[in-house]
Parts: sequence; structure tokens; C-alpha cells
Amino acid sequence: MGFAEDVRLLPQRTMRTVLMSLSRRRSLARIAIRSPLTRPVVARFVAGETLAEALPAVSALQRAGLHSTVDVLGESVTSAADASAAVDRYLATLAALHGRGLDANVSVKLTHMGLDIGPDLCRDNVLRIVQAVRDVDGFMRIDMEDHARTDATLEIWRAAHEAYSGVGVVIQAALRRSSKDVDSIIASGGRVRLCKGAYDEPASVAYRTRRAVDANYARLMERLLLADVQPAIATHDPRLISRAIAIAEGNGIDRDRFEFQMLYGVRRDLQRALIDRGYAVRIYVPYGREWYPYFMRRLAERPANVAFMIRAIVKEEGRRMRGH
Ligand code: FDA
Repeated sequence: MGFAEDVRLLPQRTMRTVLMSLSRRRSLARIAIRSPLTRPVVARFVAGETLAEALPAVSALQRAGLHSTVDVLGESVTSAADASAAVDRYLATLAALHGRGLDANVSVKLTHMGLDIGPDLCRDNVLRIVQAVRDVDGFMRIDMEDHARTDATLEIWRAAHEAYSGVGVVIQAALRRSSKDVDSIIASGGRVRLCKGAYDEPASVAYRTRRAVDANYARLMERLLLADVQPAIATHDPRLISRAIAIAEGNGIDRDRFEFQMLYGVRRDLQRALIDRGYAVRIYVPYGREWYPYFMRRLAERPANVAFMIRAIVKEEGRRMRGH
């Protein structure tokens, strides 16, 4: 039995922990990026490495009746210059989307904007993008990263939301604190994207079983739908999607009062089924060269892809060591 098969037999939680730890190992990125074998797997989840590659993907989604939110890939930047370059890429993205009449908003990670360098620098960078979003009457979503950054993210979201109401934030059902955070965001008129949470968090702050996360998701989703604050229900979980529809139908909540959101390349059948039923669906479209951590989180969510990926990387590394 090979390494890849051994890996497939690991318990899912262990696999997720391993993958999440690999997602922080940048040296692996170089191996993965070079491998032609990994590219088709990556291309399923990432719309391209450049804006020029991503724009046709957004157009195609729009033609199919899907909305988009575009993420310029990148996170954990360690220099002010890199953070500023990231802002410039967002400004170029907004200009291109608007210029082509594409109905897309943007999603931004605060560690891409320099959060780890300093909150003030990060806030200033975010506000530059907010200004550009406001100029086109658009919408911007602040993604949520690991629990160590939740407070800082919410604080910067508040500043951005005060500057322009078209800025929303993400809440993760996996975190125990999220119930309180949802209440306070609802009270301040903010818009929430609710997701399960993609980070491997400790039990002290997070629910660690699928059942507990799903139960919390259902509770928070119901609260957001009933509060009528234009929530984004971001999941591919058919049971939670059916539950959202049942809550909306049972409470006379119109289809234009919320939207479903899914990731580029994930459950395209479900995306189509929902728009066919008249629901709004927005696709999170990531593009850029810094796709490695994003991609690893996608693998961590679906162990079935992992064995294939590992085989490809090990093969490529073997070739490299033999000097090819
Ligand atoms: P779950 O993991 O239970 O999956 C349900 C089903 O969906 C699976 O059975 C499978 O069929 C399919 N599926 C899910 N993931 C897949 C994958 N990677 N490949 C193939 N099939 C897959 N997280 C976060 O921490 N911060 C954030 O800001 C965001 N932002 C965000 C935006 C949007 C639009 C979405 C949809 C998701 C996020 N996430 C996120 C990620 C989120 O937290 C979560 O990790 C993933 O959505 C997977 O969880 P599901 O809700 O889909 O359920």
C-alpha cells in the first residue's frame, strides 16, 4: 500500500489537521506550483493566476445567472509594500469588473491587507478599497480568518462599515463566540455571510464535531433570516440549504431578502439547482498566484481529493530529487 493510500485511511479530523498545518508551509507551495499534475486540480477551485484569466470566469458565471464575489488570493503578508500591492490589485480588479459591467463584489482577507503588521496599517488599506467600492456603489465582504484574528477583524469591519454601509463580514458557526457576534452585528445593521469555518481551531474556542457545528449553523442562520438583514448563507451542505428554504418559506421571507453563496468549483449541480428554483446564488471566485493556502483549505474539506494530490506532489518531488 502506498503513502497516498495510507493517508486516505487517516481519520478525517487527523487529515484535516495535517492539511491545515501543510497549508502554512510555504516551501511546499513551490513544489505544488511547479507541478503540471496538480494544475488541473487547482484550476477547479481557482479561476486563474491573473485578473485577465479571472474575468472570463466571472462573465461565464454571470451568463449562467450566478453572481460573484471576487477574492484576490493572498494572506499573511509581512511587509507594508506587499499589503499596499494587494490593495492595488483590488483596485484594478474593481475597475475591471465595473468597466465590463460585471455584477460582482469583492471579498478581502485582512492578513492580506497587513493585519499581522499592524491594525492601523490594515485599516487604512481596507479603507482605500472601501472608497473604491463606494465609488462604484458596490459591496465588499471581509472574510474571517482564524480565531486569533476575530476581534481585530470585527473591529476593522466596524470602522469600514461606518465609512460605508456596503461592507459586510463573515461569521463562522464553528466558533463558540459567534452567537454573541451575530447579535451585535445585527444590532449595528451589518450584513453577515455565515459559513461553517475553514480553520482548525482548538476546542477551547470552537465546536469540534460536525454535528455541533451544523447545529450552531442552523441556529445562527435562523436568527439572521428572521432578523431580515440580507444574510448570505454560505454552505454547500444540502441539509442546511433545505433548512434555510424551509425557514424562509415558513416565515414569508422573500427570495430577495437573502442569498446563497458557494465556492468556485464546488457543487456546481447545487448552484444550478438553486438558481433554477429562483434563488440568488453568489460564487466566491478566487484568483491570483498565492493560491496555495486557499487550495489546501479546500482539500482539507474534502479528503477524497487528497490522495490524488499527494501522489502528484510526491511524484514531482521524486523527479526533482533525481535532478529532472
Ligand atoms: P461541508 O464541509 O459539510 O460540506 C458539505 C458538502 O459540500 C460536502 O459533502 C461536499 O459535497 C461539498 N463540499 C464542501 N467543501 C468541498 C470542497 N472543498 N470540495 C468539494 N466538495 C466540497 N471559511 C472561513 O473560515 N472564513 C471565510 O471567510 C469563509 N468564506 C467563505 C465564503 C463562501 C462563499 C463559502 C461557500 C465558504 C466560505 N468559507 C469560509 C469556507 C467554509 O467555512 C467551509 O469551510 C466550506 O464552505 C465547507 O463547508 P460546507 O458549509 O460546504 O459544509
